[in-house]
Amino acid sequence: MEQTKKTIFSAVQPSGDITLGNYLGAIKNWVNLQDEYNCIYSIVDMHAITVRQTPAELRKRSLELLMQYIACGIDPEKAILFIQSHVPAHAQLSWVLSCNTQMGELSRMTQFKDKSKKHADDINAGLFTYPVLMAADILLYKADLVPVGNDQLQHLELARDIANRFNFHYGDVLTVPEAYIPKAGARIMSLQSPESKMSKSDPNPNGFIKLLETKDDTIRKFKRAVTDSDNEIRKSPDKPGISNLLDIYCAVTGKTTEEAEAEFAGKGYGDFKLAVGETVADSLEPIRAKFDQLSKDKAYVEEIYKNGAQQANYIAQRVLGKVYKKVGFIV
Ligand code: TRP
Repeated sequence: MEQTKKTIFSAVQPSGDITLGNYLGAIKNWVNLQDEYNCIYSIVDMHAITVRQTPAELRKRSLELLMQYIACGIDPEKAILFIQSHVPAHAQLSWVLSCNTQMGELSRMTQFKDKSKKHADDINAGLFTYPVLMAADILLYKADLVPVGNDQLQHLELARDIANRFNFHYGDVLTVPEAYIPKAGARIMSLQSPESKMSKSDPNPNGFIKLLETKDDTIRKFKRAVTDSDNEIRKSPDKPGISNLLDIYCAVTGKTTEEAEAEFAGKGYGDFKLAVGETVADSLEPIRAKFDQLSKDKAYVEEIYKNGAQQANYIAQRVLGKVYKKVGFIV
């Protein structure tokens, strides 16, 4: 890792396929950060088991997520890409940090409250201490910046609190991370209910686009996207459907809203939706092709995650060693 560059850490749970929302809102940005920063991206399988998983499925999805990252343009030569459970220091640091985190702090986490409602039959201790593991993820790599969505800001704030407290009691060892707010991050909404964020857990499968779905599926979903009745293609808070389609079009093509509005001025909604659908489908084509190629090359994929784990372990071990020493373990 280059000393002069700042470090960025982020992670995604292997809990399903990547959507167009994840791609345009996060991963596309990560690709752009690779040259400017030391980037470390993880597939957090240990976080995933806070809700019950089918083991074979989890294994498959972790690998598929890794392949999707690479297909999207994350370059294993530039960024460190690894699977969380391959680096034991995450669990080890998480224990030490959990002894420096208050029950009260964890009880206030809104995601815990939401998830315990959703999984009322399995409110396990891991679900409760989830943010401590997330703090360990970040702190092990001395991350300066963490790109996260709004839903994770509270967890990041807790990671900062834990780091500050640890440093206060034991001396400066942990780097206090900051949220990375991208200059231009696209917030992509559901195609069916444009008031809510595009999500793979949307009960209506027409609401989200998966990176790996077929071109026809993508176009069909855009054709069915919810619009409004005034037939004018312009961005406006009272036109959430059309605004979302414009945002998607601009995020994919790099055009400004004004340019897009001018391009479609006078056109009908049907033509507009088809044009956006085709543009999106075409832009995803190379990602799908790269994914197919990777899925035929198991040895290459294995080499990438093994190599990533080795690099991640090296960095994480050093930080963990310092922490162990500070708390009084014999190292
Ligand atoms: N909790 C994050 C999510 O569900 C995933 C995550 C785990 C993460 N560890 C992280 C994100 C560290 C950023 C940094 O989206």
